[in-house]
Amino acid sequence: MHAMLNIAVRAARVAGNIIAQGFEHRDDLMTESKSENDYVTRVDKEAEQAIINKIQQSYPNHSFVGEEGGVIEGDDDFKWIIDPLDGTTNFVRGVPHFAVSIALMHKGRLDQGVVFDPIRNELFTASRGASAQLNGYRIRCSNAKELRGSLLATAFPFKNKEKELQESMQLFSRVYPQCGDIRRSGSASLDMAYVAAGRLDGYWEKGLKPWDMAAGALLIQEAGGLVTDFKGGHEPMKTGSLVCGSTKLVPALLKTFKG
Ligand code: IPD
Ligand code: CA
Ligand code: CA
Repeated sequence: MHAMLNIAVRAARVAGNIIAQGFEHRDDLMTESKSENDYVTRVDKEAEQAIINKIQQSYPNHSFVGEEGGVIEGDDDFKWIIDPLDGTTNFVRGVPHFAVSIALMHKGRLDQGVVFDPIRNELFTASRGASAQLNGYRIRCSNAKELRGSLLATAFPFKNKEKELQESMQLFSRVYPQCGDIRRSGSASLDMAYVAAGRLDGYWEKGLKPWDMAAGALLIQEAGGLVTDFKGGHEPMKTGSLVCGSTKLVPALLKTFKG
């Protein structure tokens, strides 16, 4: 395993322990609302700090972007992008579906990625050019070629309902009649890890942040899938609009979105 991936895995496991313990004692979460329907707990913050501490022990000069702590300036060639708890609403409500997401960008390219589900003890990892794995076993995206029969995931625009709902419903109503079924799990990083593992054929969401998708994007690329934005462009981390899935399914989805 690449040395930096190894550190990311260790950091994800430390955070996973904090999250699993927090999940057992949910009366003590100190939940705050960041904006409407968008929550943060003491566990999100503690997990993020623990991840940064762990990585800094090995790489004190690297830079960091964490969802809860913002930016730590450092060597910009090595930038860690961290979502310490992706799926906070599930976590707060006792739904056991959330993950730690850690990615490393080296000179602007995704280089290492970890998505860790501490409840199922599922560790999804990828290093650029070295495939994607689940608990040490190689994973691949599905070979779905068309929407018919496919299992997809998406999300509803819960933070921006007034602005986004109509468009979101339009996309849904174009895709849904043609596919097998659609899930909404509440954890973008796990949706992407599941695409990488072939459990889902594709996934789309608008309004994501880099920490939601960085690790998942590398997982999918290394599992032989496609990660684009809604125009088929290759920088969804900049636009926050994500369409991903098997190589043939993504073009089919993009075409269907246009109506
Ligand atoms: C959220 C989850 C959710 C997705 C949202 C994200 P958070 O992340 O990934 O599934 O629909 O767009 O913000 O806030 O739980 O880290
Ligand atoms: Ca997130
Ligand atoms: Ca989060």
